[in-house]
Formats: sequence, C-alpha cells, structure tokens
Amino acid sequence: MNEAIRPGSDIPQKASPAPELSVVVPTFNERDNVTVLYRRLEAVLAGIAWEVVFVDDNSPDGTWDVVRALAQRDSRVRCVRRIGRRGLSGACIEGILASSAPYAAVIDADLQHDETQLPKMLSLLASGQAELVVGSRYIEGYKSEGFNKQRAGASALATELARKALRVEIADPMSGFFMVRRDRFEQLAPKLSVHGFKILLDLVASANGTLRAIEIPYTFGERQHGESKLDSMVALDFLGLVLAKFTNDAVSLRFLLFAMVGGIGLVVHLTTLFISLELFKEPFAEAQASGAIVAMTSNFVLNNFLTYRDQRLKGFALLRGLIAFYIVCSVGLLANVGVAFSVYDQEPIWWLAGAAGALMGVVWNYAMSGLFVWRK
Ligand code: GDD
Ligand code: MN
Repeated sequence: MNEAIRPGSDIPQKASPAPELSVVVPTFNERDNVTVLYRRLEAVLAGIAWEVVFVDDNSPDGTWDVVRALAQRDSRVRCVRRIGRRGLSGACIEGILASSAPYAAVIDADLQHDETQLPKMLSLLASGQAELVVGSRYIEGYKSEGFNKQRAGASALATELARKALRVEIADPMSGFFMVRRDRFEQLAPKLSVHGFKILLDLVASANGTLRAIEIPYTFGERQHGESKLDSMVALDFLGLVLAKFTNDAVSLRFLLFAMVGGIGLVVHLTTLFISLELFKEPFAEAQASGAIVAMTSNFVLNNFLTYRDQRLKGFALLRGLIAFYIVCSVGLLANVGVAFSVYDQEPIWWLAGAAGALMGVVWNYAMSGLFVWRK
C-alpha cells in the first residue's frame, strides 16, 4: 500500500526506534530458560533495534509469568499467551504475525540454538543477499552437542525423506532456527500448517523454490533446563506434511489414517462376528450387529487418538462426539446389516457377508464423521 495514504503514516516516529529485527521465541515449559535467553539476546544484539516476542501456550510451569516480568522492565519484550492452543509451528506463525520489524527470527527458548549468529543472519538479509537464512546442522562447520545417536539418526532420515519427496534444496529443512524477511513470510503464511514442528520445511516447500535461502552452520547445543517436546505425534505430523505436499494435497494423512483405522475396524468386526456366531450361537443378524457396534466404538476411539488427534474430543465433547458417531452410524448400521444379510441370503459365507456389511459402514463413517463428529 502507498505509504502516504496508509492510515497512521502521518504519525511521527516516537523516541524508541522502530525494531529492525523481531525475535520470536516459542515456549512451552521453559521457565528456567527465558531469562537467560533474554540476557543473551540483549548482549548479542547491542547496537541493533530489536524486540522479542515470546509465544507461550499457557505453560503449566508459568513461563508466561516470567516473560511478563521481563516485559515490565523492558518494553522490547512482549508476551503472547495462548490459551487452548498447542503447537510449535502455530506459535511461531502467530509470533511473527504479531511482530512488526522487517525481519523476523525464530529461535528455541532452550538455548540449544546459537543466538550469536543472529547479527550475521540479519546482515545477510538486510544486504539483500537472501530472503531466508537458515541455521543449519548439516553443512560443514556444524557441530552438535545436543543430539544423542538415535535422535541424530532419526533426524537425518527425516531430513533426507523431506528433501527427496519435496525437492527442497536446503540441507537442514528441519531446523527450528532461521530468519526471514517479513514481507515474504506474510505472502506464504496463509499456506502454512499450524501443527507440529516443521514450520521451516513447510515455508520452504510452500515457496516452491522462490525463496532465496542461505544456510549458515551453527552448533546445536545441549538443552539447559526442562525437556524436549518432540514426540511420536510430532513425527507422525511430519510424515503427514511430507505426504500432503508430495501428492499436492491429493492424499492427506487423515485419509490414510482413516483407511487404516477402517481396516482395523474390519478385523475387530469380523472377530466379534466370528465369536458371536461360533461361541454364543447368535443368529446371523444379531451377530453382525454386535460386530458393527464393537467395531464402531473402537473406530471412534482410534480415530479420536490418531486420525483427529489435532481435534481430539475430550470430556463432554467426547461423549457428545460418541453419541453423534453412533447416530451418524446407525443409518450406516442399518445399511451394514442389510447389505450383509442380503449377501448372506444369497451366499451363506459368513466372512464375505460380514466384510461387505462392514465396508458399507466404514465408507459411511468416513464421509459423515468429518461433517458431524470432528467438525471444525
Ligand atoms: N508455544 C509452544 N507450543 N512452544 C513449543 C511447543 C508448543 O506446543 N512445543 C515446543 N515448543 C518450544 C519449546 O519450548 C522450545 O523453545 C522450542 O519450541 C523447541 O522445542 P523442543 O521441545 O526443545 O524441541 P527439540 O529441541 O526436541 O527440537 C529441535 O530440533 C528440531 C529438529 O530436530 C527444535 O529446534 C525444532 O524446532 C526442530 O524442528
Ligand atoms: Mn530443544
């Protein structure tokens, strides 16, 4: 927008200089680290107009409270406290969007990243040599103290997978330490996923080769206090992003997980059907119905844990969801038993009839649960 007609552009510059660099720090249970990081930033960024935005997801250890106290003393410190939301990527996105300098850096709070690289990163951006500077662990000059063997192996594998599948050029797309031009970030922000840890990979993949990037090596240090939040769900989420980007959003991880849960549901269904028929000598229609109910319940639980883990229903919503799931499926159940029965009628092969009925139920569940159970 034209600066002259932008509302507010006639307001004179105030005494404190407008920040040139916004440092965004996602935090979750980093109470003992944030003050140390603040002190280090203050030392290393002397001579640069900077601000720091901590984005805390309502940490149980009260990290936000410590950040507030810092903000009371230094107006360059800001605290975004999010309630009811979790996620490293989402926190970084929100932090960058809440800041205002022309350049934004993302750095972990746990002191594993090397903040002394920040001035160099800034000068690479400010001189126009790059639009993105990545602190990289996979190029020459890189040293790691913070990785055990297992973690290093998993990280290298994930990096290779991401680079091959997404044709990402940079060596360390999994890095959580980078600096980017605000205008470029804001162009790409609508495409970014708020889930998981992979904000940089997402950013680079979404830019489709249009983001001029430079990597600089740094030493990945050891965590000072607290523990890592990277768990198997974060890893699953990463696979989901690779899959979605690789197939141009045609196949989602959700779809695959739903199909997998459906497959498990089929096994559960057939097992229950078999037991009901053989052990309890139930008539076929009743046995089929018990199979469907057991499979439906286990599908609901599995989908709530895996497929819709980002929208996981809890407490009262869980109960409401289960009831909605049953209601949605009751029509499917009728079709299920109906289909199975008519198949059985023509061809009394229990597994064929059971599978046909269960398949009917799975397709119905898939279409309807996205609409009525785990609604956005
Ligand atoms: N707001 C918020 N919400 N912050 C979070 C969340 C969350 O749900 N989860 C983690 N963080 C913060 C942590 O407090 C920390 O400051 C930073 O994000 C990194 O989290 P760690 O739990 O320390 O991650 P890590 O050290 O295992 O992972 C590092 O390496 C990964 C690649 O191997 C990070 O640099 C990642 O960004 C990187 O992808
Ligand atoms: Mn860490």
